Amino acid sequence: PLPVVVTGAASGIGAAVAALLVAGGTPVIGLDRHASAPDGVDARACDLSDPAAIDAAVAALPDRLGGLASVAGVPGTHPPERIVAVNLLVPRRLGAALTPRIAREGAIVNVASVAAQRSAATDAEVAAVLDASGDAAVLAAVAAHGLDGSATYDFTKKALLALTLRQARDGLAAGVRALSVSPGPTETPILGDFEQTMGADRMAAAAQVVGRHGRPEDNAPLIAFLLSREARWVNAVDIRVDGGLLGVR
Ligand code: NAI
Repeated sequence: PLPVVVTGAASGIGAAVAALLVAGGTPVIGLDRHASAPDGVDARACDLSDPAAIDAAVAALPDRLGGLASVAGVPGTHPPERIVAVNLLVPRRLGAALTPRIAREGAIVNVASVAAQRSAATDAEVAAVLDASGDAAVLAAVAAHGLDGSATYDFTKKALLALTLRQARDGLAAGVRALSVSPGPTETPILGDFEQTMGADRMAAAAQVVGRHGRPEDNAPLIAFLLSREARWVNAVDIRVDGGLLGVR
């Protein structure tokens, strides 16, 4: 099989996806700030918040790829510009650069969040941000909303759902699918940041509804499936992986 690029492969959900793909015989190239990654992953250190670093990483990737899992993300405790850069500009830039290299029936899978549903942004406001040309214009368009870190996080995840649909449309001619998955609260290092921005009580209440928090291993099988040829007719859709949290609400 062709290699799959996984961002955020050093930790949490990205590491679980990378490990599962490797276990199934798919070569994985991991892009992360940290060079560590599960055994068997071709881990490449790269600060994806720097567009020049993305371009350099892309230049060193193989010409043909099986897919892209955009998993890297930062929580609302980071400065808003960094949240927009990592959560939105990275999947946008990488998706645009790699779509032409992804084989027919391959896919882009973006990891969004159930937090997207919390954003007060309208579809028109999200579209205006995605229509902005160039990273600086996107950053300015989000900044114009004057959101705090937590609301910026929610906004970037809502925008990522809409970006995914645009990527799906752009990929149709070449047979490259684009999908998003929206995890609920998941036990990874950033869960503590979510407790800080949203309140530990709210996070605990969410775990009570569905019995526990999710784990990276709960998300990885769906992401690996969506990347695979078996999912070749599944396209342009978001799938929640939250144990039912939003559905039963
Ligand atoms: P994590 O913190 O364990 O993993 C995130 C990875 O992204 C880390 O390895 C980090 O080094 C990498 N990363 C961050 N900024 C980077 C940069 N500038 N350049 C390169 N790599 C960078 O967190 P987790 O939970 O695995 O998060 C993965 C995705 O899942 C994120 O997009 C997050 O927003 C999303 N998510 C997580 C939830 C949770 O409760 N843990 C819930 C819903 C969505």
